[in-house]
Amino acid sequence: MIKIAPSILSADFAKLGAEIEDIKQGGADYVHFDVMDGEFVPNISIGIPVLKSVRKSTDMFLDVHLMIDRPVRYAETFCKAGADLVMFHVESDTAEKINEAIDIVKSCGKKVGLSVKPKTPAEALYPFLDKLDMLLVMTVEPGFGGQSFMHDQLPKIEQLRKEIYSKGLDCDIEVDGGVDPVTAKLVKQAGANVLVAGSAVFGKADRSAQIEAIRNA
Ligand code: DX5
Ligand code: ZN
Repeated sequence: MIKIAPSILSADFAKLGAEIEDIKQGGADYVHFDVMDGEFVPNISIGIPVLKSVRKSTDMFLDVHLMIDRPVRYAETFCKAGADLVMFHVESDTAEKINEAIDIVKSCGKKVGLSVKPKTPAEALYPFLDKLDMLLVMTVEPGFGGQSFMHDQLPKIEQLRKEIYSKGLDCDIEVDGGVDPVTAKLVKQAGANVLVAGSAVFGKADRSAQIEAIRNA
């Protein structure tokens, strides 16, 4: 089943509660919450206090995407602030520390995910696969909304879907970056089942129509 996760990075933060209610009414499955530290990526976005406020204002599933260095430092804090799933990057620390961060999230009773940047091969995720609820393939360089979809990432999605299937694992594949009603079709064909969309949803007045167009692409 396809799930749609609008990224609030493209929402109007001055009226965030209403923006989230709008996508909920529009049929979104998850809220995608992008955290950037100005180190792992060249941008700074939102963090723990905003997540706490969002948690109080909605019962939607909060899919928290940490684009930060050494996420092990904050894994428990983001769980306690209200994340339903905490996702971080395989490039953000050593394998030992990534494993530690995964274990912290699981011990908090939350779902855990691991992401790869466009230049990182699919194989980088293999050692962690059996512990993960979700993988995230970035189809833009992380850091900014509104970039163009990178078609050269489609084989990576196919490769990861095959690997998950051959190991008999129950792991979602999320795609993030440049997803719109046109590129959604391609990522679904490649094997993704959770689609993040920022500007394609929040950049249009009718969020419901956009969410349905992406879901039915
Ligand atoms: C980019 C973020 C994305 C971003 C996607 O670093 O991780 O979630 O908001 O925005 P669009 O859908 O506009 O590419
Ligand atoms: Zn994201």
